[in-house]
Amino acid sequence: MDYVNIPNHIGIIMDGNGRWAKKRGLSRSLGHKAGAENLKRLLKHIYRREIKIVSIYAFSVENFKRDEKEVNYLMDLFVKMFTKDSDIFVNEKIKVVFSGSRKNLREDVVSAMDSLEEKTKLYERGILNICFNYSGRREITDAVLSIARLVKEDKLDLNDITEELLDLYMYQKLPPLDFVIRTSGEIRISNFMLWESSYAEYYFPSVFFPDFDEKEFDLALNEYQKRKRRFGGV
Ligand code: IPE
Ligand code: IPE
Ligand code: MG
Repeated sequence: MDYVNIPNHIGIIMDGNGRWAKKRGLSRSLGHKAGAENLKRLLKHIYRREIKIVSIYAFSVENFKRDEKEVNYLMDLFVKMFTKDSDIFVNEKIKVVFSGSRKNLREDVVSAMDSLEEKTKLYERGILNICFNYSGRREITDAVLSIARLVKEDKLDLNDITEELLDLYMYQKLPPLDFVIRTSGEIRISNFMLWESSYAEYYFPSVFFPDFDEKEFDLALNEYQKRKRRFGGV
């Protein structure tokens, strides 16, 4: 199938690793491992479809509520992906950026993030925005705080506060999301990129993330072809 409408910026809420593992009698950790392996294959495919920008929800601020053991396993997995297993980003020429707070993160995690950003900063084939220790409400709150500070210091006039200005204070200067996919059948967005998704199309496949493969992605893209985006017009 030819895709006429290729979304410029897609978001993926990678959900269902735990349930994927449970269904197979495996530990949640093995579900996360399978999710990470799937992500690498999937990203290659997505950029080959000429999608330029991908935002993935890797770890939310709220995910710290999980058992310490699960959080630590996830952090170890991320460090591995951002360091030893980072060839994929180099080979595919993908610039990696992170959205979220670096506070409360382990030192080795922060340095793995820094080194991956540094290593990929000149690549231009595509962008991968990794939402990590991320909260959409906090992103907006952080933007408001930075702007309020400027007003307080008389560096900004109240009349200058526009949507375009708020855009500049989000974690990344990226265009809005066109298409957001959440796997696992949950129909909610769980605090993912609230500002950026104001006019996004949504798609909620029931497969768990480790099973959301190239074929499933193409089904999502087929669905996107059918959407008629109006942006309030007719
Ligand atoms: C998504 O899978 C991965 C992260 C949130 C890091 P889950 O771990 O939420 O899997 P389920 O939803 O429990 O199946
Ligand atoms: C959303 O999934 C966060 C990520 C995929 C990183 P969750 O599994 O944390 O979301 P809820 O708790 O089901 O809403
Ligand atoms: Mg979940």
